[in-house]
Order: sequence, then structure tokens, then C-alpha cells
Amino acid sequence: MTELFKPCYRIQGGRRLTGLVDVNGSKNASLPIMAACLLNAGENVLRNVPDLADVAIMARVLETLGAKIKREDHTMIIDTSGVNNFETPFELMNQMRASIYVMGPLLARYGRAKVAMPGGCAIGSRPVDYHIRGLQQMGVDMEIEQGYMDTRCKGLKGAHVFLDFPSVGATANVLMAATLAQGATIIENAAEEPHIVDLAWFLRSIGARVRGAGTKTIHIEGVGKLHGAEHDMIPDQIEAGTFIVAAAITQGSVTVRRACIRDLKPILVKLEEAGVTIKESGNELKVTARRKLKPLTVTTLPHPGFPTDMQPQIMALLTRADGVSIIRETVWENRYTHVAELLRMGADIKTQGNTAIVVGGGKLVGCEVNAPDLRAGAGLVLAGLAAQDTTTVYDIEHVDRGYEAFDKKLRALGAEITRPAPPKDKP
Ligand code: UD1
Repeated sequence: MTELFKPCYRIQGGRRLTGLVDVNGSKNASLPIMAACLLNAGENVLRNVPDLADVAIMARVLETLGAKIKREDHTMIIDTSGVNNFETPFELMNQMRASIYVMGPLLARYGRAKVAMPGGCAIGSRPVDYHIRGLQQMGVDMEIEQGYMDTRCKGLKGAHVFLDFPSVGATANVLMAATLAQGATIIENAAEEPHIVDLAWFLRSIGARVRGAGTKTIHIEGVGKLHGAEHDMIPDQIEAGTFIVAAAITQGSVTVRRACIRDLKPILVKLEEAGVTIKESGNELKVTARRKLKPLTVTTLPHPGFPTDMQPQIMALLTRADGVSIIRETVWENRYTHVAELLRMGADIKTQGNTAIVVGGGKLVGCEVNAPDLRAGAGLVLAGLAAQDTTTVYDIEHVDRGYEAFDKKLRALGAEITRPAPPKDKP
């Protein structure tokens, strides 16, 4: 019987990482900005777009709608003049929730969007109720039919939208829709994430009138028409943060280049508090960790709080700290799926509700673990870098969604990490 091949990373822990690493463009900026190209009928040249599975899915979503996409290295040219379909199939929506980003732009430009409901959750509660409520306030009618949200409008109208929580996705969807609405829209309790600021930059460059992005209140004055533009994505905050933790967890010395230091501040202050030395210069950070790490109290929060997408990575780091750390996850309900895997590596962690107590300082010993999701997978790779013996991380398709050439970049810093190739088919 042939064994089923499972993609994995194999890591021999205990190597100190040293050297230079370049950060790619932001995934979470690229996804809404690609969708925002639907708002104009021109050619859009997007640069510094990372080569990731999620970006490929968004490209397929846009192509399904009729967009033409050319890609060369990290530049993507998106032409949406031929868009003639308004339906995003379940198969794509199911692979990536961010596919819902096409809803706002399609409604704004064509008055119609049919998007499969993200799996598992009923509308009216989580996870897209804020998107829907915001769009309904702008005049959108919605019917749910066979698992699809069928939305229509006869021209969007500006509205005063209050979000219950500063949701990144709902802020982006309402913001994009409002650019072509009649009159003014104000989004209150808006997400302040760097990728929302980057989206607003792009929207301004295609002719939208937006101010206040990066604060809790965003004002948008609708315009009649938008045009194509060129745009460079900001650096990926979470990829940079992950390499900073990789340096710290291996007691290494790594220079992270092409980073946005302002966006990284909520992460940097916590690492400095733990005893990591960070020297900033322009868009570079030199991270050195030679001393024993101090424990931390970390609460995940919307930006400018500590990002939830760095929680598994900081948890891996805190297993190496000298003492007891407390982590509180306040953004996602169920984001401790990596804990069971860290326990198998020998970590001492207890969770109760949204709190995790991490008793640092014990041994981490490599074993076989599964990456339950993207950032959890990254956290397990980091734990593997610091563990004794070999760690094998399976289900790394999740990690591919958010890290371009992760193993290659880590190897260049001196990590012993391989990604076994699939066996060649027998002739
Ligand atoms: C984005 C990020 C994701 C990150 C998250 C929080 C992208 C592609 N993904 O996800 O990596 O972890 O922000 O920083 O950028 N919620 C509702 N109803 C809604 C919308 C959200 O209840 O209509 C809840 C969610 O269940 C969650 C919280 O609000 O508990 C935050 O979600 P949100 O900020 O919308 O996350 P995403 O935009 O999906």
C-alpha cells in the first residue's frame, strides 16, 4: 500500500538564527486591495504582492468574476473592465473567508453580489453580520438562498455605520462600498489596522475621497467614478513579527529588513519587556536575544493593541521565559488550538476560557505536530526551532497561506528546516 504524502516541515531545533531577512508585502493589505480593483474599470498595477496561497485564491475569485490578471514576480496587473459575473462560488469562499471582500465593491459598482456564506456560521450572528448590517444601512437588500447571500441595491446611499466591534473585514467592506455611494458615509468604531490604512491609500489613489483611516472614525464622500492606479503594498506586519520572534526564541541575532517599524510597535514593546534587544534604523530592525527571557502578560486586541495573529508565536516564545506568563485572547473565541500541540512538545500551559497560563523554562522536545491553522502553524515552527531533537509540523498548507518561502528564509538564517518534496509518480 502506498503511503499518503503529507506536506510537512522537519526542523532540527537548537540552531541560533543569525543574518538578514527581508519582509514581503502584506497579505492582509493585498486581499482587500485586490478586491477594491473591482471598483474601477481600469488597469491596476499592484506591487509588492506576496506570493501566497490566499493571494492566489483572491486572484481566482476575481477571475471567476471576469477580471483579467497578469502576474510577474511580486507585481500583479488587474484589469476589471470585463467583469460580467457577480457570484463567488462556495468552493472558493470555503477556502478563504476574505473572499467576502468582493461583496462591497461588486454592490457599489454593479448593484449585485452573490456570495456563498462562510462555512459553519449562521448569518445574524457571527461571522459576517457586521458586514451585512453596514451594507444594509447603505440600502442593500439581502436574501439567503441555498447557502448563498444574494444581495442587491439600486445605488448605494451614504450612511452612519456603527460597528459593534472594530472588525477589519467589515470596515474594509463598508469602506470600499462607500467610495461609490451617493453622499457621505461615516464608519464609527472602525478597525485601525495598518492594512485598513493601506486600503484607504489605494482607494484615494483610484480617486476615492476617504479620510480618517487609521483612526476610529473614517469619513468617505462618495464619488461617481473611480479609475485605475498603481500601488505598493505595505510590509507584512505579522511576517516581520514572526521573524522577530524566531530570532528571540533561538537566542539569535537577526536583522529584519523592509519592515514598517510603526506598525510593529505593539509587538516590539512586548518583546523589549521580555528582555529582547531591538535596535531600529530606518526600515530595519536588529533583534538580539542573549539574556534569559522574562515572562509577560499579553492581551490580544484590535490595533494598536497586541495583534491576535501574533498570539501563537508569542506563546511559543513564552514557553522559553523564566517564569509564569498570562495570555488573554480577546479577538477570537477559539484561538488556542496550538496549545494541545505545544503540550505534546513538553510545554506547560493551562487554558481557562480565553486565558492561557504559560509556565516557561521547561524543556521543549521535538515530536510530530499538526498545524491547526496559519498562525498556529507558524507558532509551532518557532517552537520547533527552539526544541531539542526533531519536530515535524504537518498540515503546513495552512502556513503557506501567509508565509512566502518560510522554510527558505529560515534556512538562510541558519535554521535546519526542510520541506520534503512529494514522491515522484512511478512511470
Ligand atoms: C482579519 C484578518 C485576521 C485577523 C483578524 C483580527 C484578514 C484577511 N484577516 O480577519 O488574520 O485575525 O482580522 O485582527 O485581514 N466578527 C463578528 N461579525 C462580523 C465580523 C467579525 O462577530 O461580521 C467577529 C469575529 O468573529 C472576531 C472579531 O469580530 O471575533 C474580529 O473579526 P474581524 O476583525 O472581522 O476579522 P477578519 O477581518 O475576518
